[in-house]
Amino acid sequence: MYKVLARKYRPLKISEVVGQPVAVTILKNAIETGKLHHAILFYGPMGTGKTSLARIVAKSLNCDKGPTAEPCGTCEACQAISIGKDVDVIEIDGASNRKIENARNIIESVKYPPLKRRFKIYIIDEVHMFTLEAFNALLKTIEEPPPYVKFIFATTAIEKVPDTILSRCQILHLKKIPEAEISKKLLFISQSENIKIEEDAIDLIAFASNGSLRVAEGFLDRCMSFKPNETITKDDVSKVIGVPTREKVKEYINKILGNSEEEALKIINQLLENSINLETFNRIVLEELLKQESPLEIKTALLSIFYQSLVDIKQKIHPQDALIVATYKAKAATKLDKIENLIEKVQSGSFIIDSNNTKTEKDAENKKAIEKNTSHESLNTDIDNNSKVDLILKTFGGKIINIEKIND
Ligand SMILES: Nc1ncnc2c1ncn2[C@@H]1O[C@H](COP(=O)(O)OP(=O)(O)OP(=O)(O)O)[C@@H](O)[C@H]1O
Ligand SMILES: [Mg+2]
Ligand SMILES: [Zn+2]
Repeated sequence: MYKVLARKYRPLKISEVVGQPVAVTILKNAIETGKLHHAILFYGPMGTGKTSLARIVAKSLNCDKGPTAEPCGTCEACQAISIGKDVDVIEIDGASNRKIENARNIIESVKYPPLKRRFKIYIIDEVHMFTLEAFNALLKTIEEPPPYVKFIFATTAIEKVPDTILSRCQILHLKKIPEAEISKKLLFISQSENIKIEEDAIDLIAFASNGSLRVAEGFLDRCMSFKPNETITKDDVSKVIGVPTREKVKEYINKILGNSEEEALKIINQLLENSINLETFNRIVLEELLKQESPLEIKTALLSIFYQSLVDIKQKIHPQDALIVATYKAKAATKLDKIENLIEKVQSGSFIIDSNNTKTEKDAENKKAIEKNTSHESLNTDIDNNSKVDLILKTFGGKIINIEKIND
């Protein structure tokens, strides 16, 4: 039977866990000195190693040759725990056992010592799903379990676990796994599995997986099914998992900076037709903008615009709509002038007002105001810089003030 990569490559030893140096060091030291807390809680994003580490800790404690930070992996205990089938390592899914009756069952079973191993270990996944009553019922047991009992909790939502529980646990935070670490692991898997894949294709998968190794391995699985015999390229990855290439993103930004918003909108449509995930696209646009060397005013305005569209998309505005609006706003932003230039223009009295921009009565008023304020008489006096900025702010009303806000 084919085993998906994420399961086949589940880390079985602590040395195989990648990207979690802090948690790993704390655990290793605690195990080696025999000072492991009786209740540990792993929290962090999905697919970062919580369940894997929980099982590794269980093996460390119960290995025939242990307790040891490097369990042998071959004894009966290690093998049974690795596949989640040991009599004394009880894995409970918090989502489907969340009620007080379930908590009472745990409390009852804690009374009986382990049948075969050193410790009786309860691994409770998705523990944040427990009801408040269930948590409360467990408080005392978690605080003072019999010496042969250990609790290992795992959750992606620590904020939903009551403080009363948290204060009785040793908390270990698993982080998003850095892209470079994910790439390294994917490269290792590709070599072991004889998967032909280009290096930048691997990097694109690592980027798209957003810190989750399980997601990354799932993507690699999909790409393999798409091209089982030929070399997987970056474009294949883009197509299969719906992630845009950086080149596309750069092309889009260049269109915006080059003032061809129609072309930029075409790119958005193209991406949509190719089922590219527009939220990911938006994320990469922000990353690329950060690297851009455009004037600060334009850069900050663009960042703020695309940050807003990302927020909109997360709040369920249709991604295409959010990006169309952002594209138009971005077009306007690229016309922003440097504040130094504005000061200089005001100072020299050479302010040129675009007559196309005086469509409304308000615009006409502004135009008059600018002309009045920038006349030579009013400016040749020796005013300090602050007053000049003040003057510009007054003249432009909200417009410049907006730039200032974006700069915050
Ligand atoms: N830190 C890691 N080191 C090595 N492999 C990892 C790591 N994190 C995840 N993986 C890979 O992802 C798979 C799933 O990991 P695991 O079940 O430990 O994640 P999890 O944090 O419990 O995720 P979830 O929150 O979805 O339950 C593993 O089998 C392994 O292939
Ligand atoms: Mg898990
Ligand atoms: Zn062992």
